[in-house]
Amino acid sequence: MESKNKKLYIETLGCQMNKSDSERIKGIMSHFGYIDADENDADFLIVNTCSIRKLSEDKAYSKLGNWGARKKAGEDIKIGICGCVAQQEKENLLKKFPYIDLVFGTHNIYELPELLKQEGRICAITNTPVSEKKFEIIRTKGINAWLPVTEGCNNFCTYCVVPYTRGRERSRSLDNIIKEAKEILSKGYKEITLLGQNVDSYGKDLKNGPDFGDVLYELDKLEGDFRIRFTTSYPTDITDKVINTVKNGKKICECFHIPMQSGNDRILKMMNRRYNVEEYSKIVKKVQNEIENVTVTSDFIAGFPSETEEEFQDTIKMIKELSLDYANTAAYSPRPNTPAGKMTDKFIPDDIKKRRLFELNEAIKEATFNSNKKYEGKILEVLIEKENFKDNKRILEGRLRNNKVVHFESNRYNIGDFAAVKLNRASTWCLFGEEI
Ligand code: SAH
Ligand code: SF4
Ligand code: F3S
Repeated sequence: MESKNKKLYIETLGCQMNKSDSERIKGIMSHFGYIDADENDADFLIVNTCSIRKLSEDKAYSKLGNWGARKKAGEDIKIGICGCVAQQEKENLLKKFPYIDLVFGTHNIYELPELLKQEGRICAITNTPVSEKKFEIIRTKGINAWLPVTEGCNNFCTYCVVPYTRGRERSRSLDNIIKEAKEILSKGYKEITLLGQNVDSYGKDLKNGPDFGDVLYELDKLEGDFRIRFTTSYPTDITDKVINTVKNGKKICECFHIPMQSGNDRILKMMNRRYNVEEYSKIVKKVQNEIENVTVTSDFIAGFPSETEEEFQDTIKMIKELSLDYANTAAYSPRPNTPAGKMTDKFIPDDIKKRRLFELNEAIKEATFNSNKKYEGKILEVLIEKENFKDNKRILEGRLRNNKVVHFESNRYNIGDFAAVKLNRASTWCLFGEEI
């Protein structure tokens, strides 16, 4: 696949794993002379897709529609699609969208160099990953760098498409992870976020190998002023070793994203989550009791098939009872290949799902505000990420170690600095403070 102009644009949808994949794809493409370009200027356009909900999938098709129209109007562009929708729909995409030139799956990124040499329309989807090769990674500029440590999922929650799009869990070697972390730090990044569909399941596939606690421990020892974050934690894979390593580590941020999904035992069972409400609560309370200033955030699904009003209210109750600091929410969306997607006779009507989602969001808003309130009066470290100017004032924006967003006025600090900030006032989505 030759290109005259070699200008690449990637539209990245979905989770951080996709963001990280896009950085790897850009690195690989750079070996073929492709440089980053604006959407309107590029001659190779790739959409890196997400399939977690129908809405995410539709976003990809609407992007493709726009690009297809440009091609039809005579623009000389190549169009590619990758990511979770590609893995799910495979060659159907070539049939459905005649203007697509390249489809490649989540396992086929490292095959790109070979694919780019081939002629004609191409679909490369495998169920076994093409093994990782050493290429430059073109990371997004900024404070934070993504570092995938494990990919895939073995849990098969009944609503979720990820095990089908990302395959079985595969952990990278600790050596590779440390090497990549050192590269990241040498480029000046101040924060490394360790990624995994279930990041704390790291190492289960490595016989007698390191576990996630070891990854955290080893990275915490690296030289320099930086922060380590990690996401997402599967509730029952959070070990005492992980909790203690976060507690004792200097660089590991006190922030756990532990999706609960539902606050009702029958629904959790139907979802094939491997814990009940009591077990989940125990884990959250342990994290909260052991670690000072920690935040615990979660994900919830409203209107899973057959969920009754009482069962939904159990979820609302748990958000309050557990003093969660924030949660992502979504209305249940039936996904292809998944067991819940086949429970059509148990589907909850859209208007009820919508109302439950609204109620869920209101409960989360309240919980987030209450959580922020607890920080009023405290002095904590902020890592600065952005600067804004308002009414002739220079307002810096950054985050606490526990991931809460803070705004404060300053002429002293710059982006990338760590600043001690007195937190004066809480709002729902952030805290306002002053430098000390
Ligand atoms: N591995 C993580 C979650 C990854 S998927 C875990 O197990 O906790 C991210 C979130 O998307 C999930 O936590 C879930 O809340 C949401 N999600 C996944 N499938 C969904 C579906 N079919 N409908 C609505 N939300 C869904
Ligand atoms: Fe999806 Fe469940 Fe795996 Fe999370 S643990 S990625 S929700 S199947
Ligand atoms: Fe979406 Fe795939 Fe991530 S389905 S959430 S892009 S793993």
